[in-house]
Amino acid sequence: MDKIYILGGAPLHGIIPIAGSKNSTLPLMAASLLTDETLTLSNVPRLVDVTTMANLLIQHGVELSTKRKSSECIYDGDILELCSKSVHNTTAPYEIVRLMRASILVLGPLVTRFGQARVSLPGGCAIGTRPVDLHLKGLEQMGARIKLNGGYIEARVRGRLKGTKIVLPQISVGATENLLMAAVLAEGETVLINAAREPEVCDLAHCLTVMGANISGIGTNIINVYGVNNLCGTSYKIRSDRIEAGTYAIAAAITRGEIELLFTCSSIMRTIFTFLKKCGVQIFSTERGVKISAVNGDIMGVDVMTEPYPGFPTDMQAQVMALMTTARGAAMITETIFENRLMHVQELIRMGAQINIHRTSSAIVRGVPKLSGAPVMATDLRASVCLVLAGLSAKGETIVDRIYHLDRGYERLVEKMAACGACIERVRT
Ligand code: EPZ
Repeated sequence: MDKIYILGGAPLHGIIPIAGSKNSTLPLMAASLLTDETLTLSNVPRLVDVTTMANLLIQHGVELSTKRKSSECIYDGDILELCSKSVHNTTAPYEIVRLMRASILVLGPLVTRFGQARVSLPGGCAIGTRPVDLHLKGLEQMGARIKLNGGYIEARVRGRLKGTKIVLPQISVGATENLLMAAVLAEGETVLINAAREPEVCDLAHCLTVMGANISGIGTNIINVYGVNNLCGTSYKIRSDRIEAGTYAIAAAITRGEIELLFTCSSIMRTIFTFLKKCGVQIFSTERGVKISAVNGDIMGVDVMTEPYPGFPTDMQAQVMALMTTARGAAMITETIFENRLMHVQELIRMGAQINIHRTSSAIVRGVPKLSGAPVMATDLRASVCLVLAGLSAKGETIVDRIYHLDRGYERLVEKMAACGACIERVRT
């Protein structure tokens, strides 16, 4: 199992290209099941989760080809061509689904295009129980018969799914995406109320529209879909990953350095950048992206609460906590989306951070002058990058174990940080 070794203390200075968004890529790959024509996705990040989704689609019978980015233009992602004209299997097996919860996103497309699906229940993960009840209840409201059998979701519909009004009792990115994909080929009108507004959901809706879907209300909490008989293929470029961009912005801030991020869409970074400016970080637009600077050295503690978009993203909570451990003053960090997303706290405390967990979902962080390097262990994707960030700032050596989590969501992280002066290396053990 690989480990990352970091000798902390060096301010990072340089340029980091931001890859395409993981959380846009995964639902867009699943959307290829909705048409028998070719869907071409560009600026696709090279991540383990993308490979897992590719393997899942291939075992369904999707023809998938990858054109690797040429070495000189490192800024562009891969190009994927996906064609679902020969799908022969509507089962998503446990062996694959257990690797990546987003596998559930094939459920809606399979049922609405083929009338049936057998998808393994994803099970929980480190950050929470992660149920899929909203996905299933929505599909049942559209006329699917759903049974749970032997750890699998068995969904069937005679004829087409029927459009209907679906009120989501809680905002869910995945449920919104699954039901949106189910609705585009359903008969009649579907109204999704309390829909998620995340940019990744908008990416999916925009691509479906280009494929011929009839969708209105994109980016709002009420999405209207008028079902069509079929969708056509298209080409779609994945937008920059706002969480990767936010993570490297924190890398500049926590090391008191200066990094230019390439290809970020500043409009979707607003909440993250507003928080960083309150901390005392300077942020300038450049021709190619955004420059993040904390060279004046003073970072203030600022409270943050995670919320559905456009609120502060839960996927940035662990990274912000790392930053707050060496800020001036204190910060209250409240996680409202997932019930168990503070496991990085204990590892940060091992590095000398002063953090008190309050009622399982809040943490009070009191800034200390310096963290101390230590051997630490990652528990999930964002917790692992939080520990890398803490290691970059700490005095001495930090060894991060179980970094396979990192490979799920960050492409070439060690190379990108080393290119900005970090003393960091990945060691196969
Ligand atoms: C997506 O997960 C993202 N993953 C997550 O990013 C992200 O943290 C999350 O949205 C919230 O923004 C992808 O897009 C692949 P939810 P998802 O459904 O769709 C509860 C990362 O690090 N819920 O919005 O699974 C759920 O338990 C990952 O990149 C139900 O109760 O999240 C949670 O408390 C981590 N029933 C809340 O809703 C359901 O049927 C929000 O979950 C569905 C969800």
